[in-house]
Amino acid sequence: MIKQLDNLFVLESKNTTYAFHVLETGHLEHLYYGKKIQINSSLEAVSLVEKRVVLAGNAVYYNDENKSLGLEDVCLEMSSYGKGDIREPFIEVTHADGSYTSDFLFEKAEIRQGKKPLETLPSSYEENNRVDELVITLKDKNYDLTLELTYSVFLDHDVITRSSKIINTSKDKITLQRLMSNQIDFNDNDYIFTSFHGAWAREMKKHDVPVGPYKLVNESVCGCSSNRANPFVMLSRKTTSEDTGECYGFNLVYSGNHYECVEVGAFGKTRFIGGINPTNFEFHLEPNENFEAPEAVMTYSNQGFNGMSQNMHEFVRECIVRGTWKKKTRPVLLNSWEASYFDINEKKLLNLAKAGKDVGIELFVMDDGWFGARDNDTKGLGDWTANKKKLPQGIAGLAKKVNALGLDFGIWVEPEMVNVDSDLYRTHPEWTMEIPNKPHSESRNQRILDFANPEVVEYMTKQMENVFSAGNIAYVKWDMNRIFSDVYSQYLPATKQKEVSHRYIMGVYKMLESLNKTFPDILFEGCASGGNRFDLGMLCYFPQIWASDDSDAIYRVEAQTNYSYGYPMSTVGAHVSDCPNHQTLRKTPIATRFTVASFGVLGYECHLGEMSKEDLKEIKTQIEIYKKYREVLQFGTFYRTRSGNMYEWSCVSKDKSKAVGMITQLLFNPNTSYETYTPKGLKPNSKYHFTNRQLEFNLKEFGSLVNQVSPIHIKQNGVLHNVASSFIKMKGEKEDFITIGDILMQGVKLKQGFGATGYADDIRFFQDFYSRMYFMEEIEERLLENKG
Ligand code: GLA
Repeated sequence: MIKQLDNLFVLESKNTTYAFHVLETGHLEHLYYGKKIQINSSLEAVSLVEKRVVLAGNAVYYNDENKSLGLEDVCLEMSSYGKGDIREPFIEVTHADGSYTSDFLFEKAEIRQGKKPLETLPSSYEENNRVDELVITLKDKNYDLTLELTYSVFLDHDVITRSSKIINTSKDKITLQRLMSNQIDFNDNDYIFTSFHGAWAREMKKHDVPVGPYKLVNESVCGCSSNRANPFVMLSRKTTSEDTGECYGFNLVYSGNHYECVEVGAFGKTRFIGGINPTNFEFHLEPNENFEAPEAVMTYSNQGFNGMSQNMHEFVRECIVRGTWKKKTRPVLLNSWEASYFDINEKKLLNLAKAGKDVGIELFVMDDGWFGARDNDTKGLGDWTANKKKLPQGIAGLAKKVNALGLDFGIWVEPEMVNVDSDLYRTHPEWTMEIPNKPHSESRNQRILDFANPEVVEYMTKQMENVFSAGNIAYVKWDMNRIFSDVYSQYLPATKQKEVSHRYIMGVYKMLESLNKTFPDILFEGCASGGNRFDLGMLCYFPQIWASDDSDAIYRVEAQTNYSYGYPMSTVGAHVSDCPNHQTLRKTPIATRFTVASFGVLGYECHLGEMSKEDLKEIKTQIEIYKKYREVLQFGTFYRTRSGNMYEWSCVSKDKSKAVGMITQLLFNPNTSYETYTPKGLKPNSKYHFTNRQLEFNLKEFGSLVNQVSPIHIKQNGVLHNVASSFIKMKGEKEDFITIGDILMQGVKLKQGFGATGYADDIRFFQDFYSRMYFMEEIEERLLENKG
């Protein structure tokens, strides 16, 4: 609900309140964002308002009538340079006279029901009309510009989104240097700023830094939201834990260069701003033209990081992801990339698909290498017709044969890119982003097509329409494998070159919008060398994103934990891959690779045709388990419990009748036998059947220790050892009991672990990189004792 009480605006969702008011001067003073409080009149807000009598030393006062008002020491809804506030600004405009001072003052407010989409960019939506919007119109006192701030309150999700739009209502041209999407000023500064950084194959490393009298910047300048700095960030308290304490989460519905900055000003107030990165950005506006900033998302919870994450998860699942696959369980896929890289042909692909069908795979995906002269990454990109040598009957022929095996068929594309060695580049060298007649800095031997050019957008949309309708295609992996360099549109004039990065992403969105409409049933999976463009903008078109090219379970358990702070697991593509892992050469048990991947959208990316019978049997069982629980795993409520040497997750169905949990250990510590798994989110008063995935272990995992139990001596890796290990399996522990949810949630003391001192039946083998899955099924509600 949104209330206007005199000059006060109160925005309320189920559990949060956000409030600001209009000062006498017309500036918007932020008053509160936090747990829900009831404010029923402007008078009641008195204690939230700062009182001003004299100006702070060395500060600038606003004007002669307001000598006590120094904007540098006010919590503001939007800010600018020039009138005393010297903190990070919300907007920067250069006017026709060369000045860059702005002074936006309140003009009017409109409250409306329902969510209006943005006009030029993807934005959130809500199907049940449970969104209220407040549009505040401000006018620049001196230059006649109009600024609209829109607040959308998602009543059920505890999310508020903000967007902003500048309209050049003046008679002169202006140059926009920045227009942020979000600004929130807190009157205190006891916060930890958390952001997620990395690179290819090591996305989403979490960094926590206390805020202070400096700027903490999380940004991307590489053209995509980037694996260097994901746009999702958090502000929390030093004492916030997974389940207790305050946490704010922020994100941006945008896939280009973004910028999030936290700064404590000279007077101890904390400012957070977020939006398009002002570095290398500029937009020229003629009279009557406008510019729209992307939608920013924020949420607050006093139920710890999990509380904040769950708000974000619900919001992303309900209000960002859309279309046929929004609520549909996702298929278990097999991707050809790590099995054969570029070395593919119809025969090889069909053999792989057949091996996939035998273990329960539902969707077979042909990755890179199928088109043009694409035998390696130096050529062919841009030429989107099937290579007849590899696919004699084209896409249609292969798709048919894959379908005949009982599998859906999916395909890989990278429409935003071109190799110089391609027919497309030879025909249209002017369609790439490069500076004419200047040497170009390459990445993965490819260049970026100029999506700031509408002709390129139109051409590539058509090309993709041809590919997607060339056969029975159920799935598309949409890749984007390099970052920007030599940013330049050969289509735009010199004056508009700083508009290129933003215009590029608008062009890509236009193409995606159109392809989503034409192919509503295709399941799209985003990818950008893994997680180089994992953001809410892409999730408006792709229900899931390949989170990292690194499928090593021990890296993934950390990465998926960190993605889970801002994104639901139904958006995270996760595959079981070969061992040793291709990115780390680490050896991890196949059960662990599955445990970790199963909490995302499960796939396989390994040479099933060359795997041992034992591994294939294991994979068959894994897929059966996944299918049984995938509704819970893909759409349940996700909880983090522990991170570090031990990772612990739980996922609970909406009705709390089913739950799946896991623990995964990095390194084993000898002589520590006891361990707990602590479920969360169960019904306290229901009875649950608690079981584990009982594993079997290869004798060889015990090395020469086997001689401690064997009646005859077994030489390691000798004939006897090999023979015995193929027949004798060591059974892991079994957990199987019934008890009450509330009791389970105090921590399940698991069966005793192997501690290096002895072996017996029903011991929990839990060595380096081991994991365990737990299942909880509600049996019935417990009848409560009548205390009355
Ligand atoms: C990127 C993707 C991989 C694979 C290759 C193909 O690196 O992240 O999964 O599709 O491209 O070239």
